[in-house]
Amino acid sequence: MESNLEQGKVKGKVTAKVEAKVKAPARTLKVLMVCLGNICRSPTAHGVFERLVAGKGLRDTVLIDSAGTANYHVGKSPDPRSIAGASLRGFDLSGQVARQVSSHDYEQFDYILAMDAENLVAMQSKCPPEHRHKLRLLLSFTNSRRLSVPDPYYSAQGDCDGDEDGFELVLDLVEQACQHFLDYLIAHEFPLEFTSNPSHSPTPSFKGGAAK
Ligand code: 4NP
Repeated sequence: MESNLEQGKVKGKVTAKVEAKVKAPARTLKVLMVCLGNICRSPTAHGVFERLVAGKGLRDTVLIDSAGTANYHVGKSPDPRSIAGASLRGFDLSGQVARQVSSHDYEQFDYILAMDAENLVAMQSKCPPEHRHKLRLLLSFTNSRRLSVPDPYYSAQGDCDGDEDGFELVLDLVEQACQHFLDYLIAHEFPLEFTSNPSHSPTPSFKGGAAK
């Protein structure tokens, strides 16, 4: 027969387990950020969203990756201009390696977010119908009228010398949209966890509309 002390210990353990279940989201969510080359826009979205998710204590719950619809830069690091601009805002993109979207991704990921309409359409034509609902534009989570993150890689003259402002605009748009997307996930995917744990206050939404 267990002593009261031992019973108390067991009860304490059971209570702790129940609380942990309420606070820790019960499942993981996988998010894939997609652009054309996977060296500028989607690595930026990947790095920005990774930090926002970690800030909410969801690092082990929301898993993030990025890929390109084209294979031009597979195996390369993000563009140095993306790494430098992101670093100035405290986002580390330096460990990322470019890869191409694979047919497996459509099954594996819960949200597949394209940076622009062309890449959305490219994926829609390849994605099996049962997974097509996962495909969205990242900027569709904002209240901005702009729906695509412009490609900063090429300038008007061509020849991969897009100006610095293009990379700053990518960061502005992506930061804002990732905040909105995180608010959306918290509201729609983890509502119980966040209402039962006051330390997870919702991210304030942006009021300003389009990026700075
Ligand atoms: P991203 O930008 O799609 O944002 O990575 C581009 C990078 C490279 C090329 C096009 C877009 N490219 O044609 O090489």
